[in-house]
Amino acid sequence: MNIIEKLEWRYAVKKYDPAKKLTEAQLNNLITATRLSASAYGLQPYKILVIENPAVREKLRAASYNQSQVTDASQLIVFARVADLQEAHVDAYTQNIAATRNIDHSMLDDFAAVMKGTVKRLDAGSAAAWTAKQAYLALGFLLTAAAAEGIDASPMEGFDPAQYDEILGLKDKGLSAVVIAAVGFRAADDQMQHAKKVRKPLEEFVEVI
Ligand SMILES: Cc1cc2nc3c(=O)[nH]c(=O)nc-3n(C[C@H](O)[C@H](O)[C@H](O)COP(=O)(O)O)c2cc1C
Repeated sequence: MNIIEKLEWRYAVKKYDPAKKLTEAQLNNLITATRLSASAYGLQPYKILVIENPAVREKLRAASYNQSQVTDASQLIVFARVADLQEAHVDAYTQNIAATRNIDHSMLDDFAAVMKGTVKRLDAGSAAAWTAKQAYLALGFLLTAAAAEGIDASPMEGFDPAQYDEILGLKDKGLSAVVIAAVGFRAADDQMQHAKKVRKPLEEFVEVI
């Protein structure tokens, strides 16, 4: 299958086969693909949590309008943004760059100043939106990588972020849930797999100028 055929194959699964689990290698591949997502400045102001614990997932399902994907998929992945973006996050990032690329930290002073300027300018609402955007982009990487690997995935926002934060203790970790994805394998009787894809007509979707 080429990439378009793989993306036609994927759909937001409504019903998972609870008996089918990702192998460790498949899960690691998805995590790695998500980690390779682009992000503004490369700052990655979010973290992902892989939820396997059945009791925790039952609680999360109750906080997700009882959507069965939360408990029945192989894993549930929670994308959580940094709740309070501070200059310290920029410092941690520039230290990572310096160590990874083996350069002197002082070479990054100008870049750090630009990033810190951005962080300072954002009020709480704008910071929440900006960090969430980065997490959503990573979600896109996860969905595409899953399709490429023949793994099913369901992006979901139908959940209560405040309850997720509480159940997963995210506040203490300086995080806040923004979007989730179930990953696993579709149930043979999930009717949605037979539904035709609905997308805007190409000429409405794209304009070449
Ligand atoms: C950010 C986001 C949130 C979504 N939330 C839910 C959800 O809570 N429950 C659900 O069943 N589907 C959810 N969906 C799936 C969409 O309904 C689905 O992607 C869309 O209808 C297009 O269909 P397809 O992905 O199967 O091609 C969500 C999708 C996205 C991108």
